[in-house]
Amino acid sequence: MRRYLVAGNWKMNTTRATGEELAGALAANASAEEAGVEVLVCPPFPYVSAISEKVSGSAVQVGAQDVYFEAGGAFTGEVSVDMLKDVGCQYVLIGHSERRHVMGECDETINKKVKAAIAGGLKVVLCVGELLSEREASQTEAVLDRQMEGGLADISESDANHLVIAYEPVWAIGTGVVATTEQAESAHDHLRKWVAKHYTAAFADQIRILYGGSVKADNAEALLGQPNVDGALVGGASLKADAFIPIIDAAR
Ligand code: G3H
Repeated sequence: MRRYLVAGNWKMNTTRATGEELAGALAANASAEEAGVEVLVCPPFPYVSAISEKVSGSAVQVGAQDVYFEAGGAFTGEVSVDMLKDVGCQYVLIGHSERRHVMGECDETINKKVKAAIAGGLKVVLCVGELLSEREASQTEAVLDRQMEGGLADISESDANHLVIAYEPVWAIGTGVVATTEQAESAHDHLRKWVAKHYTAAFADQIRILYGGSVKADNAEALLGQPNVDGALVGGASLKADAFIPIIDAAR
């Protein structure tokens, strides 16, 4: 039985004040007894510490939106795994579509980040997903295979135990064009089969695969009802408590 994970990726949004208000509302809503769903928020780096304090003692967990693979040194602008742990992060998103397609991050870099994060004790949400042109060229599964192979190169099953996959079709991110339940289920099923082939069937059965891309209260229940959809990675709709809480509720 896989436990749902509903994660909010705030991207480069919120102020410290609006972030704290949102986190406070989520913390007040989250009951530790709600065993069916895990809730995660990923604020911008400068607010992680304040948000961690705000949700402290609640069931809401905190993650970062990215991390660097080196432990420290002359890497201007970057943050390390230990720094993230130091400010209360349990999770980190790696390989988000915007890191890949806006910042030009490649699978090799993503793989180094996944390795460093897991070795340092963070749980990783590895994001994968195809561009519209790749879907239209029937390349979706090939792209997912390439991103999984690249991102998870030389990662053992015991390391992969600290991993969640997020399928985010790039054409669905921030567009209001959500994948159909069939499109999402088909991609998730493919990803789970990839995990079974490269690790074991038992592990494939355990690993959580989130869907991301225009998830809203009115489509969350149908998406989360798919057999291979184990949660959601939510952008825009995670920025207001009254939009995000119904998505969490849909997972309960
Ligand atoms: O990380 C979240 C995704 O990029 C989805 O963003 O819900 O605004 O489409 P969105």
